[in-house]
Amino acid sequence: MLSLERDPANLPFITPWERTQHEAAIRFPDFRHFIVEAGPDLDAAGFLILIGCRSQNLSLELKRMVVRSKGQGHGRAALRVAKKVAFDDLGAHRFWLDVKKRNTGARALYESEGFVLEGELRESVKVEGGFESLFVMSMLATEFAQRRAAAQELRA
Ligand SMILES: CC(C)(COP(=O)(O)OP(=O)(O)OC[C@H]1O[C@@H](n2cnc3c(N)ncnc32)[C@H](O)[C@@H]1OP(=O)(O)O)[C@@H](O)C(=O)NCCC(=O)NCCS
Repeated sequence: MLSLERDPANLPFITPWERTQHEAAIRFPDFRHFIVEAGPDLDAAGFLILIGCRSQNLSLELKRMVVRSKGQGHGRAALRVAKKVAFDDLGAHRFWLDVKKRNTGARALYESEGFVLEGELRESVKVEGGFESLFVMSMLATEFAQRRAAAQELRA
């Protein structure tokens, strides 16, 4: 996870955590790390982090998703499983995320997987040379159910 986060291909789009942050998050029941496995030998192909797994508001956040080999469908497949885990297993009412405005690839993925744009957090991330804006996107349990009824989601 640490090396993936620091990979120059990913760094522009995420804010890497220190090892101790990951270690603390793994021990904290509200947070869950998942390893994305792919290929015939189920090699580690990436990871994602959910936050709010014990949220009183049933509001879960997809905190981070990174895959190693891009453009091979791993991100979409992982996101579909993440939605299933969030709504089916963890009882989410709302599943949300933020994504850098300039991360057009990830935004296209989230939009095509049914996430609705809620708004823009303007210039909310300090980066070298200035600030970047975030888009907040979400899906509600009712929307997930509608998508599932339309065979757009993994089966229960
Ligand atoms: C975002 C990320 C997880 C997507 O995973 P992926 O395996 O590369 O994506 P997929 O192959 O499943 O593609 C899914 C969709 O994403 C979009 N997409 C992915 N890469 C894209 C690119 N370079 N340009 C435009 N759209 C892109 C497309 O809509 C694509 O759908 P399509 O193949 O039907 O056109 C991955 O690219 C990644 O790890 N990026 C760096 C970290 C990051 O940005 N994480 C998300 C923010 S937290």
